[in-house]
Amino acid sequence: MNPSIKSEIERRRTFAIISHPDAGKTTLTEKFLLYGGAINEAGTVKGKKSDRHAVSDWMEIEKQRGISVSSSVMQFNYSGYCINILDTPGHQDFSEDTYRTLMAADSAVMVIDASKGVENQTRKLFKVCVMRGIPIFTFINKMDRESRNPFDLLDQIENELGINTYPVNWPIGSGKSFKGVYDREKKAIISFTANGGHKEVEAREADLNDPELADILGEENYRNIVDDVELLDGASEEFDIDAVQKGKLSPVFFGSALTNFGVEPFLEKFLQMTPPPLARISSDGEIDPFNERFSAFVFKIQANMNKAHRDRIAFMRICSGRFERDTEVFHVQGNKKMRLSQPQQLMAQEREIIQEAYAGDIIGVFDPGIFSIGDTLTTPGDKFKYHGIPTFAPEHFARVSCTDTFKRKQFMKGINQIVQEGAIQIFTEPYSGYEEVIVGVVGMLQFEVLEYRLKNEYNVEIRRENLSYEYIRWIDNAEDFEDLHKLTLTSDTKIVQDFKNNYLLLFTSEWNIRWALEKNEKLKLSEFGKAEL
Ligand code: G4P
Repeated sequence: MNPSIKSEIERRRTFAIISHPDAGKTTLTEKFLLYGGAINEAGTVKGKKSDRHAVSDWMEIEKQRGISVSSSVMQFNYSGYCINILDTPGHQDFSEDTYRTLMAADSAVMVIDASKGVENQTRKLFKVCVMRGIPIFTFINKMDRESRNPFDLLDQIENELGINTYPVNWPIGSGKSFKGVYDREKKAIISFTANGGHKEVEAREADLNDPELADILGEENYRNIVDDVELLDGASEEFDIDAVQKGKLSPVFFGSALTNFGVEPFLEKFLQMTPPPLARISSDGEIDPFNERFSAFVFKIQANMNKAHRDRIAFMRICSGRFERDTEVFHVQGNKKMRLSQPQQLMAQEREIIQEAYAGDIIGVFDPGIFSIGDTLTTPGDKFKYHGIPTFAPEHFARVSCTDTFKRKQFMKGINQIVQEGAIQIFTEPYSGYEEVIVGVVGMLQFEVLEYRLKNEYNVEIRRENLSYEYIRWIDNAEDFEDLHKLTLTSDTKIVQDFKNNYLLLFTSEWNIRWALEKNEKLKLSEFGKAEL
């Protein structure tokens, strides 16, 4: 292959960053961008907190969406690498969105607040990260504040997320007595000096056997770190890069993003350990990213990012080769050759029309309504499809209608748009004659986002009646039944259709699922839809 294309792909690193709200993801991202020279001062990525935290969490998410051009994907250069950061929403109700974003990433960085550990509302989000089987790096942040015991933090990550951990460095004290970290590879102390309120940091290296160390760290800290290191060296996992690459072992770093402590060493080590663009599975087998022929898949669609323009942008991850502006590509699902309109990349806050991009990069293109999540684009002549992005089974259901019947057209337009973005799923009741739709979501906050978006983007108010269904099953063999109404089901089981006209059953309990299967011998149910997204 052309050596310049090869070296461009080799220097790509594409990762997703996930965290609990407030754990410090924005601050850490900002510091990365500062090191990369992509921005000049902190506070540029997002506005001040007071402006951002409007009413509640979902408003915050909505806000993030509003400026998501700047915050959802960012590219910058650092130390010869070309880095793509994918931002994810920090709430488990959006874990499906996070999963899709992870599909576009080759590794993930998990930011954890040292005083809180793994928090309830992100447990599911982090598990989704482990499910994807890509390398996961943990940054335990806010060591300049009182933290939990670091051994407990690691135990918690291991037990709750089912992943082993390897501390790359180890904290010395925390909060007011935070003195720095011990670098286990260098076997050296990097000390932290809070600088007169300016929150700057002085890093200095010193050997653990250095006789002056007890003076620098204080007697107690010194004794603790010597004990901790002995314990770590004796008890913790060996560092195994293979296990890291498979997502079985997470390298853990301690630091403080706000004060800049430990951020650059983290970035440097992370970049060495994280892989260049990984091969992807397609209907033609594995596609090598270094294959010169361009290919990509759509992992995210977002409409109305800019209300004034009513634009819709499809985000795609380039999986192989080089993309060049104005050359023809092939949209496999649409079976059509096309030119991608206004291909753009995001550099901190700037949207920039690009001339070229490489495997590993994320580009956004203007979408006139032809793309769906999971679609594949190739070089004309290639017809393979990348493996689809799975849909999560909704866990909450509500009957939704618009309050003003004259606005029904707007309502359906808005709902369909949001369905295409993959933010909700909709179902209809085939035999009931109801005009409303049943909306299914993975997390309750998605209902609020739906309400908010319909009102703000489509000027439609909705009525929502929550339903008590919790389980959904697709009927795999609906064609075997003359009339599905004749199935023997409990009275609280509902037959619905999805937007591809597949039949499904909604259940209020697992017991009812078993009942349906026992009473209807021929009935075949599956937990995931046959329909590809
Ligand atoms: P998020 O994107 O994960 O939601 O978190 P974000 O970076 O916005 O950080 C949340 C709060 O935590 C911010 O404070 C931020 O300054 C603070 N923070 C981040 N990293 C550290 C750290 O290493 N140490 C300490 N002590 N604080 C940290 P805020 O007061 O809520 O907002 P702001 O007004 O500073 O923006």
